[in-house]
Amino acid sequence: MQFILTIPEQSIRNILRTPEKPVTGTFGSNKFRLRVAISDYGKKIADYYDGIIGTGIDEIIRRTCIPFDFTHFGMIIEFDAPQEIEAYDQDFALSETVKDLLRQFGPLIIRNAYMSTKCRAEGQRNIFPDLRFHIDRGSTQDNQYSLFCRDPFDAVQKAPRTSSTLLVANIVGYLQALKEGQTPSSPQQTLYTIFNDQDLTPLLDQIILHQPWAEPEATGEICILDNRTILHASYYREAQGYPIGVRYLY
Ligand SMILES: [Fe+2]
Repeated sequence: MQFILTIPEQSIRNILRTPEKPVTGTFGSNKFRLRVAISDYGKKIADYYDGIIGTGIDEIIRRTCIPFDFTHFGMIIEFDAPQEIEAYDQDFALSETVKDLLRQFGPLIIRNAYMSTKCRAEGQRNIFPDLRFHIDRGSTQDNQYSLFCRDPFDAVQKAPRTSSTLLVANIVGYLQALKEGQTPSSPQQTLYTIFNDQDLTPLLDQIILHQPWAEPEATGEICILDNRTILHASYYREAQGYPIGVRYLY
């Protein structure tokens, strides 16, 4: 049985053509729905940070010198039935198909899915302080991908979690710091304490991708990101919650 995630090219083309419309597909005999979390992300960023540093995403990129190459942000895959996923190999190398999705869409969230048996106990469990946007891997490390997962078979993680993971493109960290009157050390700053003094609700899934880990009891969830392009933070929605599973991948 093959568990390496593959998404048909036609599904990707369809979602790019009409990002507001989810597409359906099958993986083995299991059905899934695929959707974009935030469409036209650059425009939403430019509109929200209008005048902070330039106007329009191209000018913001030019003036900050922070690479930004996402049309839409976040791909969400939801399976009908629990799906085992083999996301990486014995050398902790992330599958090439997932890397392609991350390059194109930024973070990948897979719901009603769990890590294959041989990988389930690997890695560690982490939780970070509330709303400190950071990267997990330094620029000199080779394993730049973070994979977070909620194990539906685990006594603790089978419960929905009361804290979320928030994800933004790097450029949002810098712009938000400026908006809050902070002085980032450089456009490459990798830790921001931001968004603490406002109601985040209107920004969720507009500027900030929200992964709440709130699927029903005993539902597996996986979230994968590239630390070179994405900042992430814990968000204590109701309470701190339990540490989430983490692997760092090549
Ligand atoms: Fe982290």
